[in-house]
Amino acid sequence: MVKIPEHIIDQVREANDIVSVISSYISLKKQGKNYIALCPFHTEKTPSFSVSPEKQIFYCFGCGIGGNVFSFLMSYEKISFLEAIQKLAADAGISLPKYKEDEKQVSEYEKLYRVNQFACKFYVETLTNHISSLKTYFKERNIKEESLKLFQIGYIHESWDSLYQEILKQKMDPMIFLTAGLLLKSDRDPNRIYDRFRNRLIFPIQNVSGRVIAFGGRTLSDEEDVPKYINSPESPIYYKSQTLYGLNYSKDWIRKEDASIIVEGYMDFLQLFQHNIKNVVATSGTALTIDHAKLLRRYSQNCILCYDSDTAGVNAALRGGQIIFQENLEVKVLLLPEGEDPDSFVKKNGASSFFALLKTAKDYFDFKVERLTHTYGGDSISQQTRIVSELIDSLVTHKDALKRNFYINLIAQKYGLQENTLLSELNKKRKIISSRESIRIDEPEKEKHPKYTSITLTGAWNAEKDVLNILINHLSEVKRFIFEILEEDDFLNQVFKDVFKLIKRNQDKSSEELIHLIISKTPDQQIVGMLSADLFSEIQDPERYLNDCIQKIKITKYQTEIDKLRKQLSQLNPEEIQYTRILEQINKNLIQIKELRKIFAPHKRTT
Ligand code: CTP
Ligand code: MN
Repeated sequence: MVKIPEHIIDQVREANDIVSVISSYISLKKQGKNYIALCPFHTEKTPSFSVSPEKQIFYCFGCGIGGNVFSFLMSYEKISFLEAIQKLAADAGISLPKYKEDEKQVSEYEKLYRVNQFACKFYVETLTNHISSLKTYFKERNIKEESLKLFQIGYIHESWDSLYQEILKQKMDPMIFLTAGLLLKSDRDPNRIYDRFRNRLIFPIQNVSGRVIAFGGRTLSDEEDVPKYINSPESPIYYKSQTLYGLNYSKDWIRKEDASIIVEGYMDFLQLFQHNIKNVVATSGTALTIDHAKLLRRYSQNCILCYDSDTAGVNAALRGGQIIFQENLEVKVLLLPEGEDPDSFVKKNGASSFFALLKTAKDYFDFKVERLTHTYGGDSISQQTRIVSELIDSLVTHKDALKRNFYINLIAQKYGLQENTLLSELNKKRKIISSRESIRIDEPEKEKHPKYTSITLTGAWNAEKDVLNILINHLSEVKRFIFEILEEDDFLNQVFKDVFKLIKRNQDKSSEELIHLIISKTPDQQIVGMLSADLFSEIQDPERYLNDCIQKIKITKYQTEIDKLRKQLSQLNPEEIQYTRILEQINKNLIQIKELRKIFAPHKRTT
């Protein structure tokens, strides 16, 4: 591990308030002195993810992940401790001491981020160098210079290997660029390497924290057979189904406006943003997924799908709307006048017309009714039956039981049907689906837990952990008392023993300094989570409870010793001297236990 001095790590941590860092990824709600949220590391419906501004730590009561601002970033962005420090130092404008980077220490993820960043910079520079020949295009499309800068839009002229030559010139490893899909190998001649993007305007695709993870390139050629857009392939840092273009720029606006506007294209995003309609994201040619819905829900429950009114647009609205609808978000659909997309509409009519249009957006369910009526007609009984049947279909997978019922009620009223008939039809379909997909749709989704190295804890591990908690949180007299009575060998669990030693060596440190020192020095995520959990539930009246813990730890230690001796004894012949010695030893331990029972009267933990 690279050595960055402790005081600099502290400085970086102190410069990055955990609440504001985590809020830049997910929506936090204040609750008492803490903040809560839906955990981004596992699937859940009610928030069990907590952040303590006071202690600068987080913990999820659902999946057990926890730690400080560095741990959060490591888990969220899948980067190393060092990379987390580097990022947060850069954000806070703190320069880190120079050190020689060990290639092998850089994670695969970080390498991919870096090559994308490198390419992004290269494309931006190429745009700057060619700006005169692009001026007319930008003017025609109403792309402002500020937007080019803000969204780091780049350009690459007609050339087979400009990027590749630059990579060679900078002595970078082309392999990672191949993985990132920025370079391609020729099918016919695997030794020939060329650029993926040629003669295109380049849109860097960024993740929520603003790191470039992929690119979309719009052709500037008029030729028919050239695809209008090409995109980076998926890679370990880029999953289409989990990425929404522009979200890193719009997330705060989505929160502020309490709604997201979902459009299809890069250009649509850009033009709306330029017109000060900033709560927007683009799906960029991929179908909406459950993961997209979950991502958006972090910022707002309300979505407005804003698509073209052609068949493709309507179908996309029906399909995409259904996904978000059944995830229990509030979905509206806005179809633009024929022949327009959000880009062309707002360019032609301005922002106020767009806002006026937004007001006419229809609730997804009403939209669905309207489309079905349009498709099937609605006069005859058989037509109406078809419509009702499809409406029920769209409720089958809806996550919220109450809402399912409300919608059933709505259908019953609209078509003059018995609610009970509809409900039993709905339940029949739910049963069929659940048996077919062998999932029980009523049950909560299987929780996805973060990967942990599994460690086994033995003995009085709970008491060991609680003593550490008291040591971290409480006054120096209590600390001194503990250090007088307990020694490191009383701890049977190596991880807790290490933490105990660390605290003992750093007795002059404040609680907060200690917490973060422990988090940064404890390699096991599960232990970090466990300790963070306890920090959220401070032990009241520690002196009383402490006695119990110490007694338990000591007794367990003697008892473990006794068990070990008894095992040895069973191998020996009672005639041997060794046998008597061990017996004596056992008795000594038994007496110790008896003494301990006398000294420490039992108390209960009060939290
Ligand atoms: N798209 C794609 N591949 C294509 C066509 C489209 O990935 N061959 C994606 C792009 O992200 C594009 C979006 O789908 O932005 C919407 O496509 P389209 O409406 O055809 O393009 P526009 O965004 O309107 O682009 P432009 O205005 O430049 O024609
Ligand atoms: Mn367009």
